[in-house]
Amino acid sequence: MEQPARPVRLSQTTITELMVPSYANFGGKIHGGILLSLMDKVAYACATKHAGTYCVTVSVENVEFLQPVEVGELVSLHASVNYVGRTSLVVGIRVESLNVRTSVIKHTNSSFFTMVAKGDDDKPAVVPKLILETREDVKRFIEAMRVREVKSAVKDQMDDARSSIEVDQASELLKNERCVLQYIP
Ligand SMILES: CC(C)(COP(=O)(O)OP(=O)(O)OC[C@H]1O[C@@H](n2cnc3c(N)ncnc32)[C@H](O)[C@@H]1OP(=O)(O)O)[C@@H](O)C(=O)NCCC(=O)NCCS
Repeated sequence: MEQPARPVRLSQTTITELMVPSYANFGGKIHGGILLSLMDKVAYACATKHAGTYCVTVSVENVEFLQPVEVGELVSLHASVNYVGRTSLVVGIRVESLNVRTSVIKHTNSSFFTMVAKGDDDKPAVVPKLILETREDVKRFIEAMRVREVKSAVKDQMDDARSSIEVDQASELLKNERCVLQYIP
């Protein structure tokens, strides 16, 4: 039997963590991998709260680190279910970094994690419908729905592009590229 629909607000989740020196890269800024790991955790918690069952990460979109995060900053990751399909959920994550001395907050990135709910049999499980209570909820749902349609069309085009590689025309195709062609067909 299908679970009852749930509002967006019930699964909204925030994780906050202090950026310690061991998280830094060779340039002294926080490793992108540390932030990705935190994003995956908050996406998992948020999706699982909504689905009521274990969720796995299937794809990640729009990971661009717009501003570096410094050691000593307090990073908060705000996650919200933006969209649900039959068994998948799109979780939007906004990452903000607070300088605890100056109280200045910067927005470092917003990303979207697609998660799939799994049942006890390890197969994709149907997730509850999403109750959209605010204008923002509706806007995000429609946006995610459109992105899902565009992604599906792009995937088809990418599959075509990959299946029709004209190696025999390489000298013409690659003449303006930054490569040295030593293979002669
Ligand atoms: C995700 C997974 C369950 C999909 O399995 P599948 O047999 O393709 O299942 P389905 O075709 O029924 O798809 C299930 C849902 O995933 C979605 N999906 C599948 N591949 C996707 C992709 N690349 N991007 C976005 N959504 C995807 C489908 O659209 C479907 O959503 P819907 O039910 O809301 O329409 C399977 O690939 C898996 O278990 N992957 C490993 C995930 C994991 O372990 N992640 C942790 C990181 S290692």
